[in-house]
Amino acid sequence: MSSKLKSLLHKIKRRTWMKYALRGVGGNDNFERLDLAYSIKDPWNMDSPGEAARFEATNRIIEREFGTLDSLLELGCGEGHQTLHFARLARQVYGLDVSEKAIERARERVPGGKFAATDIFSQPWLSGDAKVDLVTACEVLYYLSDVEATLKRMSEIGRHCLVTIFAPAARRVGPHLDRIPGLRKDWIWHGGTVWLVCWWRNE
Ligand SMILES: C[S@@+](CC[C@H](N)C(=O)[O-])C[C@H]1O[C@@H](n2cnc3c(N)ncnc32)[C@H](O)[C@@H]1O
Repeated sequence: MSSKLKSLLHKIKRRTWMKYALRGVGGNDNFERLDLAYSIKDPWNMDSPGEAARFEATNRIIEREFGTLDSLLELGCGEGHQTLHFARLARQVYGLDVSEKAIERARERVPGGKFAATDIFSQPWLSGDAKVDLVTACEVLYYLSDVEATLKRMSEIGRHCLVTIFAPAARRVGPHLDRIPGLRKDWIWHGGTVWLVCWWRNE
């Protein structure tokens, strides 16, 4: 079988799987099905040129806006593909994901990172007034039942915050972001795919 045909079959298999696994997952904290999605490796195809371009462009915006960081907490880190990129910017990276399977793979991918299989409300590292330099939520907000509460919690534990969303989803998630005082925006564009990047400062 040619490698082109092999990769086409792989793509069809992955997309069919995700159509099944993510049924009813949007906007309702369905942690069980998000973990189910990780029954295959790299279910969101994060190891692809398009996502690599998004990771690089996100890093450039973070460097431009915040410089080098001491600490960065990534909400919804998945298998750690973007965490690897963030680790170039921050001395210590923390990753949270509700999928235990994804977190196991993230630990292997980024040995210097600290990871926990939970959401932002149960994160195990920060208590009281302690904050990290930057909290990110890239391609995550679509899955939450209460976007507002998560954005608020991000602001409580991060000196700065940054999110990215796939542009077609801006209609649902955008209004929550627009309520944040001092919100700044930029775009990432790669091969016809567009992501909205938003960031804000809490101090
Ligand atoms: C599309 S992937 C994005 C992975 C990575 N942030 C990136 O941009 O490459 C979304 C991830 O968010 C996780 N997720 C969804 N809801 C979450 C929540 N409430 N808390 C933590 N992680 C969550 C999913 O399990 C999944 O791994």
